Amino acid sequence: MSNAVLDAIRKRRVVREMTDEPVTQAQLEQILDAGRWAPTGGNMRQNRFVVVQDEKIKGLIYQVAPGMFQRPPVIILICTDLGVARAHQISDDSLTFPMDVGKAAQNMALAAHSLGLATGPVTSFSQSAVNRILNLPEAFVPHMFICLGHAAEVSQFNVRPWQRITWRDLTFYDRFPSDSGGE
Ligand SMILES: Cc1cc2nc3c(=O)[nH]c(=O)nc-3n(C[C@H](O)[C@H](O)[C@H](O)COP(=O)(O)O)c2cc1C
Repeated sequence: MSNAVLDAIRKRRVVREMTDEPVTQAQLEQILDAGRWAPTGGNMRQNRFVVVQDEKIKGLIYQVAPGMFQRPPVIILICTDLGVARAHQISDDSLTFPMDVGKAAQNMALAAHSLGLATGPVTSFSQSAVNRILNLPEAFVPHMFICLGHAAEVSQFNVRPWQRITWRDLTFYDRFPSDSGGE
Protein backbone atom coordinates (compact mmCIF):
# COMPACT_ATOMS: atom_id res chain seq x y z
CA MET A 1 0.00 0.00 0.00
CA SER A 2 1.43 3.39 -0.90
CA ASN A 3 1.93 5.95 1.83
CA ALA A 4 2.64 9.51 0.72
CA VAL A 5 4.47 10.50 3.90
CA LEU A 6 6.76 7.46 3.92
CA ASP A 7 7.40 7.89 0.18
CA ALA A 8 8.37 11.54 0.68
CA ILE A 9 10.67 10.66 3.60
CA ARG A 10 12.47 8.06 1.51
CA LYS A 11 12.66 9.96 -1.77
CA ARG A 12 13.67 13.47 -0.62
CA ARG A 13 17.34 14.19 -1.29
CA VAL A 14 19.54 17.16 -0.54
CA VAL A 15 19.90 19.14 -3.77
CA ARG A 16 22.99 21.27 -4.26
CA GLU A 17 22.38 22.47 -7.82
CA MET A 18 19.21 24.41 -8.65
CA THR A 19 17.79 26.20 -11.68
CA ASP A 20 16.71 29.86 -11.91
CA GLU A 21 13.03 28.84 -12.10
CA PRO A 22 11.18 30.88 -9.48
CA VAL A 23 9.31 29.52 -6.48
CA THR A 24 5.80 30.96 -6.32
CA GLN A 25 4.62 32.90 -3.28
CA ALA A 26 1.92 30.25 -2.70
CA GLN A 27 4.57 27.48 -2.67
CA LEU A 28 6.80 29.49 -0.36
CA GLU A 29 3.96 30.10 2.07
CA GLN A 30 3.04 26.39 2.16
CA ILE A 31 6.64 25.56 3.01
CA LEU A 32 6.82 28.22 5.73
CA ASP A 33 3.56 26.90 7.13
CA ALA A 34 5.03 23.39 7.26
CA GLY A 35 7.92 24.85 9.28
CA ARG A 36 5.50 26.55 11.59
CA TRP A 37 3.74 23.24 12.35
CA ALA A 38 6.93 21.60 13.60
CA PRO A 39 6.84 20.95 17.34
CA THR A 40 9.09 22.99 19.66
CA GLY A 41 10.35 22.18 23.14
CA GLY A 42 7.88 23.49 25.72
CA ASN A 43 5.80 24.67 22.77
CA MET A 44 7.80 27.93 22.97
CA ARG A 45 7.54 28.53 19.22
CA GLN A 46 10.83 30.38 19.15
CA ASN A 47 11.79 29.42 15.58
CA ARG A 48 11.89 32.41 13.22
CA PHE A 49 12.13 32.25 9.43
CA VAL A 50 13.89 34.93 7.38
CA VAL A 51 13.18 34.69 3.65
CA VAL A 52 15.90 36.04 1.36
CA GLN A 53 15.14 36.58 -2.33
CA ASP A 54 17.05 39.80 -3.02
CA GLU A 55 19.94 38.97 -5.40
CA LYS A 56 22.37 41.39 -3.74
CA ILE A 57 21.74 39.99 -0.27
CA LYS A 58 21.99 36.42 -1.56
CA GLY A 59 25.34 37.34 -3.15
CA LEU A 60 26.63 38.53 0.23
CA ILE A 61 25.44 35.32 1.89
CA TYR A 62 27.29 33.17 -0.68
CA GLN A 63 30.51 34.93 0.34
CA VAL A 64 30.17 33.91 4.00
CA ALA A 65 28.61 30.46 3.51
CA PRO A 66 31.25 28.07 2.14
CA GLY A 67 28.85 25.14 2.56
CA MET A 68 26.29 26.70 0.24
CA PHE A 69 26.88 25.31 -3.26
CA GLN A 70 23.38 26.24 -4.46
CA ARG A 71 22.44 29.51 -6.15
CA PRO A 72 18.74 29.15 -5.35
CA PRO A 73 15.84 31.52 -6.04
CA VAL A 74 14.93 31.49 -2.34
CA ILE A 75 16.96 31.09 0.83
CA ILE A 76 15.16 30.60 4.15
CA LEU A 77 17.18 31.22 7.30
CA ILE A 78 15.86 29.44 10.39
CA CYS A 79 16.72 31.36 13.56
CA THR A 80 16.03 30.97 17.26
CA ASP A 81 14.51 34.02 18.94
CA LEU A 82 16.26 33.91 22.32
CA GLY A 83 13.93 36.68 23.51
CA VAL A 84 11.15 34.11 23.67
CA ALA A 85 13.38 31.58 25.39
CA ARG A 86 14.57 34.10 27.99
CA ALA A 87 10.95 35.00 28.78
CA HIS A 88 10.52 31.29 29.63
CA GLN A 89 13.71 31.35 31.79
CA ILE A 90 15.36 28.90 29.38
CA SER A 91 19.13 29.24 29.04
CA ASP A 92 20.51 30.51 25.72
CA ASP A 93 22.46 27.29 25.13
CA SER A 94 19.54 24.91 25.63
CA LEU A 95 19.75 21.95 23.26
CA THR A 96 16.08 22.32 22.43
CA PHE A 97 16.86 25.20 20.06
CA PRO A 98 18.97 23.37 17.46
CA MET A 99 16.63 20.38 17.77
CA ASP A 100 13.62 22.58 17.09
CA VAL A 101 15.38 24.15 14.10
CA GLY A 102 16.06 20.66 12.74
CA LYS A 103 12.43 19.70 13.03
CA ALA A 104 11.25 22.80 11.19
CA ALA A 105 13.92 22.24 8.55
CA GLN A 106 12.80 18.68 7.88
CA ASN A 107 9.14 19.67 7.76
CA MET A 108 10.06 22.30 5.17
CA ALA A 109 12.19 19.88 3.17
CA LEU A 110 9.40 17.30 3.04
CA ALA A 111 6.77 19.92 2.21
CA ALA A 112 8.95 21.24 -0.61
CA HIS A 113 9.51 17.72 -1.91
CA SER A 114 5.77 17.07 -1.91
CA LEU A 115 5.32 20.22 -4.05
CA GLY A 116 7.93 19.09 -6.58
CA LEU A 117 10.56 21.49 -5.22
CA ALA A 118 14.07 20.85 -3.95
CA THR A 119 15.87 21.89 -0.77
CA GLY A 120 19.34 21.81 0.70
CA PRO A 121 20.22 22.62 4.31
CA VAL A 122 23.36 24.66 5.04
CA THR A 123 24.96 25.18 8.44
CA SER A 124 28.44 25.93 7.18
CA PHE A 125 28.39 29.74 7.40
CA SER A 126 29.66 32.57 9.57
CA GLN A 127 26.96 33.43 12.09
CA SER A 128 28.43 36.85 12.86
CA ALA A 129 28.65 37.78 9.16
CA VAL A 130 25.06 36.64 8.57
CA ASN A 131 23.94 38.69 11.58
CA ARG A 132 25.47 41.76 9.96
CA ILE A 133 24.28 41.08 6.39
CA LEU A 134 20.66 40.57 7.47
CA ASN A 135 20.77 43.08 10.33
CA LEU A 136 19.22 40.43 12.57
CA PRO A 137 17.75 41.52 15.91
CA GLU A 138 20.20 40.96 18.79
CA ALA A 139 18.18 38.03 20.18
CA PHE A 140 18.04 36.10 16.87
CA VAL A 141 20.53 33.24 16.48
CA PRO A 142 20.90 32.11 12.85
CA HIS A 143 21.11 28.30 12.79
CA MET A 144 20.40 26.89 9.36
CA PHE A 145 19.78 28.05 5.82
CA ILE A 146 17.33 26.12 3.66
CA CYS A 147 18.07 26.65 -0.03
CA LEU A 148 14.81 26.30 -1.93
CA GLY A 149 14.24 25.95 -5.65
CA HIS A 150 13.96 23.51 -8.54
CA ALA A 151 16.52 20.73 -8.89
CA ALA A 152 18.85 20.95 -11.88
CA GLU A 153 18.45 17.88 -14.08
CA VAL A 154 22.14 17.18 -14.21
CA SER A 155 24.33 17.88 -11.21
CA GLN A 156 27.94 17.18 -10.34
CA PHE A 157 26.71 16.52 -6.79
CA ASN A 158 24.50 13.61 -7.77
CA VAL A 159 27.37 11.15 -7.64
CA ARG A 160 27.01 9.23 -4.38
CA PRO A 161 30.19 7.58 -3.17
CA TRP A 162 28.58 6.60 0.13
CA GLN A 163 27.73 3.07 1.03
CA ARG A 164 24.04 2.63 1.62
CA ILE A 165 23.06 2.10 5.22
CA THR A 166 19.79 0.77 6.54
CA TRP A 167 17.96 1.42 9.77
CA ARG A 168 19.37 -1.93 10.98
CA ASP A 169 22.87 -0.44 10.93
CA LEU A 170 21.69 2.35 13.25
CA THR A 171 19.36 0.58 15.64
CA PHE A 172 19.85 -1.31 18.90
CA TYR A 173 17.20 -2.98 21.03
CA ASP A 174 16.73 -2.77 24.78
CA ARG A 175 20.17 -3.20 26.34
CA PHE A 176 23.71 -3.49 25.06
CA PRO A 177 25.45 -6.80 25.72
CA SER A 178 27.97 -6.74 28.60
CA ASP A 179 31.04 -6.93 26.30
CA SER A 180 30.01 -3.71 24.48
CA GLY A 181 31.59 -1.32 27.01
CA GLY A 182 28.40 -0.77 29.03
CA GLU A 183 27.87 -1.97 32.60
C1 LIG B 1 22.56 19.76 10.48
C2 LIG B 1 22.92 19.60 9.01
C3 LIG B 1 23.79 20.50 8.43
C4 LIG B 1 24.11 20.39 7.07
N1 LIG B 1 24.93 21.33 6.51
C5 LIG B 1 25.22 21.24 5.19
C6 LIG B 1 26.04 22.23 4.58
O1 LIG B 1 26.49 23.19 5.19
N2 LIG B 1 26.25 22.12 3.25
C7 LIG B 1 25.75 21.07 2.52
O2 LIG B 1 26.00 21.02 1.30
N3 LIG B 1 24.98 20.11 3.07
C8 LIG B 1 24.70 20.18 4.39
N4 LIG B 1 23.90 19.23 4.98
C9 LIG B 1 23.36 18.14 4.14
C10 LIG B 1 24.00 16.78 4.46
O3 LIG B 1 25.31 16.74 4.00
C11 LIG B 1 23.08 15.75 3.79
O4 LIG B 1 21.96 15.57 4.63
C12 LIG B 1 23.70 14.44 3.50
O5 LIG B 1 24.62 14.60 2.46
C13 LIG B 1 22.65 13.40 3.11
O6 LIG B 1 21.98 13.79 1.94
P1 LIG B 1 20.54 13.19 1.58
O7 LIG B 1 19.61 13.73 2.61
O8 LIG B 1 20.27 13.63 0.18
O9 LIG B 1 20.65 11.69 1.67
C14 LIG B 1 23.56 19.33 6.30
C15 LIG B 1 22.67 18.44 6.90
C16 LIG B 1 22.34 18.57 8.23
C17 LIG B 1 21.35 17.60 8.84
